[in-house]
Amino acid sequence: MDMIERHSNDTSDCSILSHLLQNRKLNDKEIYINLTDLLVASIDTTNTTLQWCLYELACHPAAQDTIISEVEMILEGRPSLEKTDLDKLEFLSAVLWETLRLKLKLSNLFILN
Ligand code: HEM
Repeated sequence: MDMIERHSNDTSDCSILSHLLQNRKLNDKEIYINLTDLLVASIDTTNTTLQWCLYELACHPAAQDTIISEVEMILEGRPSLEKTDLDKLEFLSAVLWETLRLKLKLSNLFILN
């Protein structure tokens, strides 16, 4: 079964591709263009934000320790976080917003030679 057929038929799949294929308001070419747009818009932006965030945390070990304590407190002994825990990560969220404020000028998103 190819990817298009699988995503067209699996109603339990809540991916963007399945949504677009199952609602069929766009033709294949329009779906391809929209998904490419999302990939191009999301990969470098997210990647660069996370890299700046990790750099800033390496420069501010006390903030890093606060994040570790926050995660440990929310985990309460569980091995990993769940999606429902995300809203509780207030300090980590503040660090990400601060990274965006300090670092994410559009010119920082791409390396121009
Ligand atoms: C930290 C991560 C991200 C940053 C810093 C970022 C930044 C931006 C910026 C500055 C714009 C231009 C807004 C404007 O024209 O006023 C934009 C637009 C856009 N972004 Fe992101 N973005 C991020 C993540 C993502 C992700 C994960 C997706 C998709 C899954 C995405 C999809 C888009 C799309 C589709 C547009 C165009 C919106 C439109 O034309 O109205 N972005 N983003």
